[in-house]
Amino acid sequence: MPSRNIVILISGGGSNMAAIVQAAKRGRWQQRYGAQVAAVISNKTDAGGLRFAQEQGIATAVVDHKAYADRAAFDAELARAIDAYQPALVVLAGFMRILTPEFVARYAGRLLNIHPSLLPAFTGLHTHQRAIDAGCRFAGATVHQVTAELDHGPILAQAVVPILPGDTADVLAARILTQEHVIYPRAIAQWLAQQTITQAQP
Ligand code: GAR
Repeated sequence: MPSRNIVILISGGGSNMAAIVQAAKRGRWQQRYGAQVAAVISNKTDAGGLRFAQEQGIATAVVDHKAYADRAAFDAELARAIDAYQPALVVLAGFMRILTPEFVARYAGRLLNIHPSLLPAFTGLHTHQRAIDAGCRFAGATVHQVTAELDHGPILAQAVVPILPGDTADVLAARILTQEHVIYPRAIAQWLAQQTITQAQP
């Protein structure tokens, strides 16, 4: 079975990344799919998730976007850092940078994102408050393939949660986040299973 490296990009706490790392262990992704989380890369030096990754023995790197003149220069360096691990899959897990079309094209078909709304509703930022303000009764999260258009691309999984009376954005975000931790590892496992079947065919 071919070895499949997964590189995860984070900007903050990295709870989705941690859920994926734990699911990979629990679900024996190495034995089943030849897959391992090879590296966690952050655009912020103080991203809380970096320490968790290090404690798990996973390689980490920081590519600080502030050190680059423009998006293209940052994305080029980010791609260099990612490509050091020859990834089969690149996973955006709370990675809060808009990526250039060139970057997205480089990883076409092997770049996933999770977004805290029921896409195609509420692309962009402040999704939880916007869903509350719009009077929605339900909110959720979406795992999707990344395409050049922000928060678009084929949907792989969604989770729905209720919006309850009195919900603040923070309360709703926490309710959604627990579901993100369920659907993101599951969607990645399905993606890996699909690759395994496809590549096993003559
Ligand atoms: C998650 O809610 C994720 O959906 C969101 O950031 C949070 C990261 O949490 N992503 C976006 O808003 C991307 N546009 P985490 O660092 O604990 O995984």
